[in-house]
Amino acid sequence: MEILDLRHFSSADLRPLLEEETAMWGSTLSWDYTQSAEMILRYMEAKILPGYAAIERGSIFGYSFFVYEQSKGVIGDLFVRDGGRTANRLEIEERLLTHVIETLQQSPGIHRVEAQLLAHETGAVARPFLAQGFSKHPRVFMKFEIAQHPQTAPPLAPEFELRPWSEDQYQSAAAVITAAYRGHIDSEINDQYRTLTGSLRFLNNIVRFPGCGAFDPRASFVILDRRSRTLIGVILCSQVRADVGHVTQVCVLPEYRSAGLGVVLLAATTRSLRERRFRAISLTVTQANDRAIALYHRIGYESKRIFDAFVWEG
Ligand SMILES: CC(C)(COP(=O)(O)OP(=O)(O)OC[C@H]1O[C@@H](n2cnc3c(N)ncnc32)[C@H](O)[C@@H]1OP(=O)(O)O)[C@@H](O)C(=O)NCCC(=O)NCCS
Repeated sequence: MEILDLRHFSSADLRPLLEEETAMWGSTLSWDYTQSAEMILRYMEAKILPGYAAIERGSIFGYSFFVYEQSKGVIGDLFVRDGGRTANRLEIEERLLTHVIETLQQSPGIHRVEAQLLAHETGAVARPFLAQGFSKHPRVFMKFEIAQHPQTAPPLAPEFELRPWSEDQYQSAAAVITAAYRGHIDSEINDQYRTLTGSLRFLNNIVRFPGCGAFDPRASFVILDRRSRTLIGVILCSQVRADVGHVTQVCVLPEYRSAGLGVVLLAATTRSLRERRFRAISLTVTQANDRAIALYHRIGYESKRIFDAFVWEG
């Protein structure tokens, strides 16, 4: 078994492994990974996907890749096929991650590395991260089975207005996100939340790129304060499978919290998805965010698995 640069290979070399990975995402997370796999293959074909491949008898049976976002490196994925012959799976995962981490930490101008390994159970691949000085933040993958819950219409006080998402709310939504995550644990995990330009980049990734499913504007909403005519809450949802929506963002300005607006936003998304015959909704939340978790549990979300986010600052 050897570890080689991914850029030595073509998309045809990686395709069989990605097909297995796509099946795994479907069964463990109800997530259709096809679009992400196609994007990975396009980058492979152009020989611009940085990362490493685990090779045995000339074929790829494990890989990990990363992307550069200005002075940050983001580990995009890690997948190793079951049943490697010369070494066990965990050992190969750790070797791939060690290569990726060392490459990023030694890249000139890279001061921060982030990873969120949704498909790996908490702790499973933590060792190489902890050995290299990363902090670890457990996060919860939650799921809501739409048909198991009655349609609810929580009241919205007359001073507020619920509106469908529209493109002209880009700037104000980014401002709400930045204010909502000031001093928040999630801005330790994702530094985009710390600035307005970062939040705009986050929005851009969610709305315009298919990496985290296809943005679903009909299941995304904002809440305005009618008096000040300003935006005070946002929920964004993407379609991650034909019948599954994923809430990629929900936040309310601090001064408007605990008034039921979070519940109203989640109910609006659920209603839209229910009307279009979606089966389930998923989301991820940091385990330390206990008020958000309590809210999700109260309305019927169930914790399905715990995975880790890792962060390193040089
Ligand atoms: C999570 C968040 C969106 C919730 O928004 P919110 O408007 O405060 O939520 P709600 O008011 O609808 O519900 C939460 C609170 O109201 C109470 N509440 C609201 N409706 C209620 C009802 N019908 N019955 C009982 N309690 C209710 C809840 O008990 C809860 O209490 P808390 O204040 O102790 O947390 C908001 O706290 C936020 O923006 N946080 C920062 C960003 C974040 O963490 N987002 C989630 C990332 S996964």
